[in-house]
Amino acid sequence: MVTLLHHHGDDDLAPDLVDLAVNVRDQRPPRWLLDAILDGAHRWGAYPDASRARRTIAEHHGLDEASVLPTAGGAEAFTLIARAVPGRRPVVVHPQFTEPEASMRAAGRPVEHVVLRDFILDPALVPDDADLVFVGNPTNPTGALHPASMLAALWRPGRTIVVDEAFMDFVPGEPESVLDSDMRDLLVVRSLTKMWSIAGLRAGWVAGDPSLISAMEAQQTHWSVSTPALTAMEATSTPAAAQEVREAAEVIGRHRDLLVRELARIGLPVAGSPKTPFVLVDTSAWTASGDAPDAVRLKLREAGFAARRGDTFRGLGPQWMRLAVRGEQITSALIAALEEIRS
Ligand SMILES: Cc1ncc(COP(=O)(O)O)c(C=O)c1O
Repeated sequence: MVTLLHHHGDDDLAPDLVDLAVNVRDQRPPRWLLDAILDGAHRWGAYPDASRARRTIAEHHGLDEASVLPTAGGAEAFTLIARAVPGRRPVVVHPQFTEPEASMRAAGRPVEHVVLRDFILDPALVPDDADLVFVGNPTNPTGALHPASMLAALWRPGRTIVVDEAFMDFVPGEPESVLDSDMRDLLVVRSLTKMWSIAGLRAGWVAGDPSLISAMEAQQTHWSVSTPALTAMEATSTPAAAQEVREAAEVIGRHRDLLVRELARIGLPVAGSPKTPFVLVDTSAWTASGDAPDAVRLKLREAGFAARRGDTFRGLGPQWMRLAVRGEQITSALIAALEEIRS
């Protein structure tokens, strides 16, 4: 069943709107990555073999090969977790990406919800006997980056913790990543989609407890990850690609600082101190009485900018909108459009 849990930023787009709804870094992958993918075209006639990508990712991140599973995007990892990872009392920490809950529901496994106050992770809010806990870090849509020590404080005997690190590569140096050589009771979901602008290729991976990884692999559709996606995984698991990631994250950080400053200047402060290529904005201060709570976002849409609606995230409401971080020109056009809306 398709529900609002399956609503994502791409559903907020329309052909003539400036895209502030989807957080993919660019329109297309960098030239060198595209070339690497196309150079592998002679292998597309054969069925895919994920073993080399798996080994390369493991080596690049200092992980055991048995701890890594390439997936058709981070989204597939959630489907596999829902099918294969045990847990009688699953809990999702919100607000966060909706696919973990959607996947669990599709597998006939309803989840409980913990909604954070001020979007800050508080391990004490998670029931002690929750044995499968989903957290996003840094979190979509709040932008919050939780300290790795807080995630460690979530650990309990018999509990599996799933950390969605789909946006971790946007945090320079990834200091709060929980990828580690010892991944007992832990699963970390990663995505190539946003940093490498390959949403259409479907490339990601999950790392974690080898026994859980092998249970997930047993549920994965054979040949699920395409050869071009596997090539992208190998090509981006190099020191040169890691350096490009760091530089891109720093540039986006500067663009985000500008966006945050400008939004604050016009009276629309963002939530928390985002560390993501997007920011979350509460527009309620600008909503005139009698206006719908999402009036600012809708007026912004009329002015030519697609923002991601906030109301499909548990713990938020229609007054929230998520804005992707773009370059200076788009930011100044956005701010001008918002000032026009306010006047
Ligand atoms: C927080 C988060 N996790 C995971 C994903 C899944 O990404 P993909 O399946 O494209 O790798 C997304 C996509 O929007 C996301 O926002």
